[in-house]
This record gives sequence, C-alpha cells and structure tokens, in this order.
Amino acid sequence: MNPFHNQSVVSIRDLGRDRLEAVFEATDRIRTMPPERRRELCRGRTLGYVFYEPSTRTRLSFEAAMSSLGGSSLGHADAASSSAKKGESLADTVRTISAYSDVVVLRHPLDGSSRFAAEVSSKPVINAGSGTEEHPTQALLDIYTIKKEKGRVDGLNIGIVGDLKHGRTVYSLLYGLSGYDVNVHLVSPPSLRIRPEFAYGTKRRMKMSTYGDLGECAGEMDVLYVTRIQRERFADAEEYAKVRGSYVVGLDMLRRMRPDSIIMHPLPRVDEIAPEVDSTPHARYFEQAEYGKHVRAALLHLLLNKDA
Ligand code: CP
Repeated sequence: MNPFHNQSVVSIRDLGRDRLEAVFEATDRIRTMPPERRRELCRGRTLGYVFYEPSTRTRLSFEAAMSSLGGSSLGHADAASSSAKKGESLADTVRTISAYSDVVVLRHPLDGSSRFAAEVSSKPVINAGSGTEEHPTQALLDIYTIKKEKGRVDGLNIGIVGDLKHGRTVYSLLYGLSGYDVNVHLVSPPSLRIRPEFAYGTKRRMKMSTYGDLGECAGEMDVLYVTRIQRERFADAEEYAKVRGSYVVGLDMLRRMRPDSIIMHPLPRVDEIAPEVDSTPHARYFEQAEYGKHVRAALLHLLLNKDA
C-alpha cells in the first residue's frame, strides 16, 4: 500500500531518503500526465487551509495543485478573518476545518503547532511552516529543484547563506539533505548561525562547514541557497539592524562562482539577491517556486489516494 496514505506531514525527519524519492517520482509522473487525467486524481476532494502567518507561494501553490488534481480548496489566508480573532483555539479551528475537508494545510508562528494540529485533526495535516522549526514541503520542492536543475543531489557542494538561526526552510532542507552525500557550506553572521541542537543531530550524516564570508567559499558551490534575514523573528529591532543586508548576491558574486552553479531562494526575497541576477543563467528561484506546485500536487495525490 502507498505509505503516505492518510498520513500527516509534520517534519521532513519523518521521511527518509526513500520517501523523498517516492514523492519526486510521483512529481515526475504528475508533471508529464495529460491534464484531463490529472484532474481525475483528486476529483471531489477538498483541501482546507489555515494560515496564521502571511504566504504567497505556499498557500497559492497548494490551491493551484489541488485545482490541477480536480479538487477544491477552502480556508483562511489570515487569522484576522477567522474566529481565531474572537479567541477560538487552534485545536477547535483545526477540528472544524478538518470536518469540512480531506486534508488540512497549516501555517502557524509556533514551533510544535503542526504536530499538535495533527493530534487533534480528523484528517491528515500538512505543515506549511511552523515557527522557526520546519517547512517540510519547501524542502521537498527545494531538493526536487536541485535534482532537476543539477541532474543529481549526491556529490554536490551546497551553500546555504543568510538567516540560518530563524529560517525554518533551512532546517527542513538540512534534515532532508542529511540522507544524501553532500557537502554543505553554512554562511551567516555569527549571531545567525544554525542553532546548536540541530548541528548535533545531523553532523554525523553529512559534511558541514561554517563561514562568515560568502566570498571565501562561493567558488566551490554547485548550488547557492540564499535566505532572507527574517526581520519578524527578531525580538530587538537593533539586533536586526546590525545584520540587515549582511549578504547581497549580485553580479560581482556570480563572477566568483562556477559558471554552471545555480542560485536558489525559497522566496520572498528582500534585498539579498540583486534584481540583475534574475536574468542570468544562475537564477533558478522562480523555477523553484513553480516546481512547488507540482511537488505539492504529488504529495496531495499520495496522501489522498490509497493506490497512488
Ligand atoms: N517559501 C515560502 O514559504 O513562501 P511563502 O511565505 O510566500 O509561502
């Protein structure tokens, strides 16, 4: 039986490399399927979503994915338009949405929110971002993008630059990559280094090195994954001001990189990739966002269909 059927996706740590590869194979099948066949895969099924934090790509790509499978979506794009504004608990909101839908997609500012939601929901829950903890479907689409754009994952040098302390996409990506044979180069200001409890759990499974200066390692990268400094996670505006603009990838940085290296970014970006990079052959972040729709469609298909 399909092992994803009716299962929640809370952490990418719950999926080993084999499961990741199964999602990627399903994604390839869905991308090449005639649209009229794809529209039969989740016909009559409903995706419910609850977003307590802003989103463009995650929410809309889930909606687009469900629509491409013949299903529909309902939910709240922000807590202010839901009964959370009147004091309703997360548990009651999730229980209610799960009664109206077949799968629940949740984004919430607290670590542990998706795990808790999966416990109270009558339907599978997909974590669409929980605090600074994880964003597992982002990692699925990130690793899929690397496979498609570089032809493989094993053996690559992958740089991750920016806010490694608060970036939940970074943690899910690292957990996902830990099943592959990769060299990871972590680049951040000292105050935004990866949280120590993470490094302890994964160091033994992949090679990681730490830098403060991007120029020091840029020439080694096959993939440079750039992240935004997450202003909203700083308790102190002065601390944010100290690190704001620490890294800006512009044409000068590209000249120091391998000609076939690619630049990725989970988006949204603020100022960490200069707009003139967009038209270079290195830029892959908009393709990455587009792959997200296909990867999420594959995941929905796997969760909702026993025989997928
Ligand atoms: N990458 C990502 O999660 O984007 P959104 O915040 O726009 O959903």
